[in-house]
Amino acid sequence: MNASEKISKLKQEKDVVILAHYYVDQEVQKLADFVGDSYALAKKAAETEQKNILFAGVSFMGESAKLLNPKKHVYMLDQTAGCLMADMVTAEQVKQAREKYPEAAVVCYVNSSAEVKAESDVCVTSSNAVRVVKKLKQKQIYFIPDQHLAHFVAEMLPEKEFIYHDGYCPTHRMIDQKSLMEAKAKHPKALVLSHPECAKEILDLSDYAGSTAEIISYAGENAAEEYIIATETGVFYQLEKENPGKKFYPVIDCQVCPDMKKNTLSRLEYALEQIGSGDLPEIELEERIMEQAKRPLVQMLELAR
Ligand code: 13P
Ligand code: SF4
Repeated sequence: MNASEKISKLKQEKDVVILAHYYVDQEVQKLADFVGDSYALAKKAAETEQKNILFAGVSFMGESAKLLNPKKHVYMLDQTAGCLMADMVTAEQVKQAREKYPEAAVVCYVNSSAEVKAESDVCVTSSNAVRVVKKLKQKQIYFIPDQHLAHFVAEMLPEKEFIYHDGYCPTHRMIDQKSLMEAKAKHPKALVLSHPECAKEILDLSDYAGSTAEIISYAGENAAEEYIIATETGVFYQLEKENPGKKFYPVIDCQVCPDMKKNTLSRLEYALEQIGSGDLPEIELEERIMEQAKRPLVQMLELAR
């Protein structure tokens, strides 16, 4: 039995759905039941039928799946896979900001812990942030934790007044202006597609900015044959698979998220074998957090519709 047959058999026997983010190892993406950006993964998690969800991604994604499916068992391929940006804001900081800015809506990027979500009014992802923030009645927006996504949204919504947090994604921050200028000089016909977690100077040099799924659909729908991609290299698998005639180049070789890369094929096999044995810890959250952190996520799903 090859790896793929073994995984299908285990999935069926154990009633498991495998959800994966575009940044994980391509061998895992190939075997997942659903691959998506954080918004699509949250929606999918809210709809799944299987009693066990196995998540190939980072902890905030698994936590969101648990919050939206309290009765299901949610497991991570690798429990140590976290998000460095999510760790840049604490629930305590949000409580203090609420006292300082009582009029502001607390808008929380899904790349955050469940504790932080529990203190927030609404969640957003990079693909729905503009849509969701636009619909909020508050003029003042306290946006956590990503300063770059916040600036990107603020530019689109001049009617709102933003208060910024200082969080950022270390992987996207590595993508620098000089390297992008060099990549553009090397591939003069290529369009530049960036993730809004990139700094403003990168977005200003880009032809398009969007979530991972939006970058993939933009490249699929556009007639251009070459693209410089300013986001984690995991997206190259789908980009190349869906666009066999087109060429995709990274800005730098190391635009890689080390935590996403913990989601390997061997971890997938191991996790599937362990589900149900009691040896694979499932995501568990305190009851208070479960109740309070679900609210901003559900609010996001409603406003983003
Ligand atoms: P997407 O919502 O675009 O999938 O992004 C998730 C992420 O972690 C980007 O660094
Ligand atoms: Fe977090 Fe950045 Fe990794 Fe996305 S790429 S999971 S924001 S550290």
